[in-house]
Amino acid sequence: MEDGKPKIRVQEQSDLKSAERVQLQRAGLMNAPRIERWCATGTNSQNAYATHGLFRYFGKFPPPVASHLIDEYTKPGDRVSDPMCGSATTGVECLLSDRDCDLRDVNPLSLLLARVKTRRVSSRALSAAFERVRKRYHPMDHGYEPVGLRDVSHWFLPETQRSLRGLKAAIDAESRAEVKDVFSAVFASCIRKVSKATTQQGRLFLDERTAVEDVWPLFERKTKAVFSAVSKLPAHKRPRIEQHDIRQPMDEAARSCASLVILHPPYFNAYRYSRINSLELAWLGFESRNIRPWELREYFKVGKEENLHAYLDDMETALSNAAQQLAPGGVLALMIGDTVLHGKHLRVVAPLLDRISGRRLILKKIAIRIPRYAEAHWVASQRRDSKKLGTALSDYVLIFRKSERPTHG
Ligand SMILES: C[S@@+](CC[C@H](N)C(=O)[O-])C[C@H]1O[C@@H](n2cnc3c(N)ncnc32)[C@H](O)[C@@H]1O
Repeated sequence: MEDGKPKIRVQEQSDLKSAERVQLQRAGLMNAPRIERWCATGTNSQNAYATHGLFRYFGKFPPPVASHLIDEYTKPGDRVSDPMCGSATTGVECLLSDRDCDLRDVNPLSLLLARVKTRRVSSRALSAAFERVRKRYHPMDHGYEPVGLRDVSHWFLPETQRSLRGLKAAIDAESRAEVKDVFSAVFASCIRKVSKATTQQGRLFLDERTAVEDVWPLFERKTKAVFSAVSKLPAHKRPRIEQHDIRQPMDEAARSCASLVILHPPYFNAYRYSRINSLELAWLGFESRNIRPWELREYFKVGKEENLHAYLDDMETALSNAAQQLAPGGVLALMIGDTVLHGKHLRVVAPLLDRISGRRLILKKIAIRIPRYAEAHWVASQRRDSKKLGTALSDYVLIFRKSERPTHG
């Protein structure tokens, strides 16, 4: 952390711990051309620099993963693409390191976060808007109702609903889109904290003790931190942000233009993003069940081995479409992991590699990634015995290079 920013500590294959060797053997990955061990440094708060700490997006990777890949495989002015961008960690790092960037996702919450986390807005505009929102705000018995939630009172106290309704109305009256976006993102970042759902797990579990009646104090505190981060963002570059299902081919204009593609899909049987963010989506006006058909077929909650083929079908298409974005010779970094189902190791990565062998993506290296702090480790998110279900294993970063000449793939 010489310049104060957390980094990835890269170690060689000879530094692997014995349990990690066993894990790689079990995964069928020991014969990769090169193996490294990656460990992200820095605590949660050290990783929350710039706009990274705006929203707790479960399953995000720590910023040093993106900055390491950007430093290693691109130079200033190059284009980076993240077609499953989640909370835009890649986008923020591209902005800070002067790279052009394309961000895509199917989830509207993710697109809102991507816009807010990468767009500078002056603190003067934000402070003036804050005063307007404060004057307008008052708890309301009627008005906005969150969409698509079967039982709002199951997740929110009546007082919280009144408070959220009033705040939503006060924010929606703002006319400037970029200012309204900032307030909407902060509003979204308060929802879990004031609801009756636990905040420590991605999945929604009820815990009435965590509920907060009045949203305003939390909203006010958060806006201060976010204003400061947003108003200091570099203003000279803006990513292209659009809603897109990675299983659909890229537009002609988006092809062969990126030097680096970072692909971080939902894992088989880990998080369904439209579900774990359903409270925030509902209060922002998006029905999570409408987003579900666009999401990759992972098997959250109902993981069965026989479902793996559907996930692999989607991942094969995703990789092929992501590779379309790469210029020949460019690098694709895929973050993915194996799974444990009913105590049994289920290979995900090796069968995916078999499916794409002989295509234009040539595997160069596998890094075993040791999850730390900022990552909401999925086993913890499940409240289940880690031996029975889940990705209780370390994650991998697979580095592919796109061959210069087309092959049959
Ligand atoms: C593991 S998260 C990415 C997290 C991100 N790297 C970050 O740091 O915040 C996976 C993302 O894939 C998105 N996703 C799921 N299915 C998709 C699809 N078919 N096309 C594009 N994005 C999809 C989810 O909405 C989710 O935001």
